Amino acid sequence: EPTGEGRTVAVAHPNIALVKYWGKRDERLVLPFTDSLSLTLDVFPTTTSVRLAPAAGSDTVVMDGAPARGEQLRRVTAFLDLVRERAGRRERAVVDTRNTVPVGAGLASSASGFAALALAAAAVYGLPTEPRALSRLARRGSGSAARSVFGGFVVWHAGPVDALDPDAASYAEPLGDAYIDAALVAVVLEAGPKAVSSREAMRRTVATSPRFPEWVAASRADLTRMRAALRAGDLETVGGIAERNAIGMHAAMEAASPPVRYLTDASATALGTVHELRREGVGAWATMDAGPNVKVLCAAADAERVAARMATVPGARVVVARRGPGATLRTEGG
Ligand code: PMV
Repeated sequence: EPTGEGRTVAVAHPNIALVKYWGKRDERLVLPFTDSLSLTLDVFPTTTSVRLAPAAGSDTVVMDGAPARGEQLRRVTAFLDLVRERAGRRERAVVDTRNTVPVGAGLASSASGFAALALAAAAVYGLPTEPRALSRLARRGSGSAARSVFGGFVVWHAGPVDALDPDAASYAEPLGDAYIDAALVAVVLEAGPKAVSSREAMRRTVATSPRFPEWVAASRADLTRMRAALRAGDLETVGGIAERNAIGMHAAMEAASPPVRYLTDASATALGTVHELRREGVGAWATMDAGPNVKVLCAAADAERVAARMATVPGARVVVARRGPGATLRTEGG
């Protein structure tokens, strides 16, 4: 519901995939090759307000207090065009979005960003805001955003390749039967912008990496086994699958030409520390996305201990995250 002077505000949190999304089978519709599975976090929310600007000739987008330009502005405008097309509306909008994590640093600001934008924009333009519709809409902004619509453990269905309406068949939903009290310790190694966008890196991997088909095949089995392990409350199996799935994704991109390399020497050091923890008997498993940062999955009860050890990695800043909520509308002012 609009608040204040027709302003609608939505909040969404990032998610970290334990079985990754990497590669689109349809670029326009953002349809993935594989199902993915994630945990929505309770840190680094994005808060986005949208209001209509009926007199304006173009959208205005403010990101963290500064006008968005270039690719960022283009992506938000293209997303609003999709919303307007579906809603049969023409009015431009003013979007104000605030991240609490550096954009493009491999901590999934695009997931929280497009989940919050999808919810606020759908509410303002009068599109359905029920979670499945919202997840499909958020997917069009950024694939991983489909999952940030929901809290906790979430699975995003790729949808069958021969679906009559593939857009309708690809959405995320929460896993109601995941019995694990997990934490993710984010090891922030570098806050600079990434060299290659995930969009371009995925394209390159799909088009040129001989290891991509093998990762896709492994990923299918990973998802099935991880769902069973989550139901059984078996964190050790979940962690082992998550770490191998991430390593396989990075191996696939490093085999692309030209190679895509997000991991740095600091990432390798952090990975070594995770292995050390395991040798000492602490349940800790690493996952890495489109950036050098390492996120360490562990039991919530072990989070402080794991965080203290990860903080010994030179240059590391450590943030402990636990399971977080889905995207919500915020009422403010009146
Ligand atoms: O949502 P995108 O297009 O930024 O892709 C993100 C992909 C990874 O974060 C690397 C993996 C994932 O499943 O979130």
